[in-house]
Formats: sequence, C-alpha cells, structure tokens
Amino acid sequence: MSYVITIDGPAGAGKSSVAKEAAKKLGIKYLDTGAIYRAIALILAKSEIKPDNEEYLREALSEIKIELRDNEVLVNDFDVTGEIRTPEVDELASIYSALPIVRKALLGLQQEQEKYGSIIAEGRDVGSVVFPNAKVKFFLTASPEARAKRRYDERIKKGKSADYDEILAAIIQRDKNDSSRDTAPLSVPDGAIYLDTSEMSELEAVNFVVDKVNEALTK
Ligand code: DC
Repeated sequence: MSYVITIDGPAGAGKSSVAKEAAKKLGIKYLDTGAIYRAIALILAKSEIKPDNEEYLREALSEIKIELRDNEVLVNDFDVTGEIRTPEVDELASIYSALPIVRKALLGLQQEQEKYGSIIAEGRDVGSVVFPNAKVKFFLTASPEARAKRRYDERIKKGKSADYDEILAAIIQRDKNDSSRDTAPLSVPDGAIYLDTSEMSELEAVNFVVDKVNEALTK
C-alpha cells in the first residue's frame, strides 16, 4: 500500500535536506512542492503576466504544463531546474505563491503525484491542504538564529560573502510574511509532529523522521 508523508515548515528549517534523505532511507519518492511554485512563478514572470491580472493569469495557468522528473522540473517541455534557485526566483515564488488562483491551479498536480507510489512531500501547506490524509505529518522548524547560522555557514563554505545580521533580519521578515499572508499562511497542520531542529544535526532529524514513519507503518 502506498502512503504519503508530509513535512511543512518555514524557509531554512532544513526541510529539503531532511525530506530528501528520509526519502532515500525509506525508499520512496521526494516531492519538492516549492520547486513547482518556483517554476510557475518563473514562467509567469517571463511571460510578463502580472500578479494582479486575474484574467491573463487564469488563461496562462490553464495552458502551462508542468512536469516533475526525479531531479528535474520541466515547464512546457523546457528544463527550468537550474533557473529556479536564484534570489530573483525566491522573490517571484513568494509573490505568485500567495495568489489563490495559483495555489488552486497547482493543487491537482501535487495531489496527482500520489498515483506514482509512496511520497514524502515538503512545503508550506502539504499536511493541511494538499494531503490532509497523510500517514504521518511533520512540522519542521528551528529558531531564526539557528536558521540564519546555517545559511551563513552554507554561504561561507561556498566561498561567498555573508552577513549574519542581514541574513537573520531577512529570515525574520520572511517568517512574518509567510505567517501573515491571507492564502495558506504557514501553520502547524492538525496532528503534525512538531520538530524543532535548532539543537539537532541533520542526521538526527532524518533519523527522527524515519523512525516515526516506520513506527506508524508497523501499527
Ligand atoms: O521551499 P521553497 O523556498 O522552494 O519555496 C518557494 C516559495 O514557494 C516560497 O515563497 C514558499 C512557496 N511555497 C508555498 O507557498 N507552498 C508550498 N507548498 C511550497 C512553497
């Protein structure tokens, strides 16, 4: 029997790395719903469809074809995987993902992924809206300071410049936006296991998730 696991939580809490690793250990598929929002935002912006133009948005959304492959996202047969991880797309995705019309259009595509076998889905509303009947739901978070430190270390490791205070301020601002938006504000889904990873290593968080899933599967 196939099943769905969900991980929701704020940006920078380590959801992607934990979900990816847990998927490997459990032998199931990883669904990155943020990548779908990023791809659609990129294409809408490239087509110069403004977020407030409902009519054009509706038309465009009915014509755009998004395809998810293992590690790739294709829009109308074009591979946009490399293009969606930029600071510009961070911003575009956050604007377009706040629109109800966009969220509605992407709901079916996300839910469809269940057809292809067991999945671990990661996002902002996967446990509450997309897969409310998931087998196990997690809400992964970490203090803004811990998330800022991780982001800072990541950038330094890549040889990039970084300012801890600036990163921290951006994280606090993004949390505020995500939690206060009208559509799908970030919240802990009903029945979700709350996991604060501030004092945990990635491996500890992965093992925690995998153990909880295995426990639920044997019940
Ligand atoms: O997780 P991420 O940074 O790749 O997400 C990109 C944007 O999409 C971010 O602004 C939050 C939004 N998002 C969302 O609203 N709902 C989801 N299920 C996933 C992402």
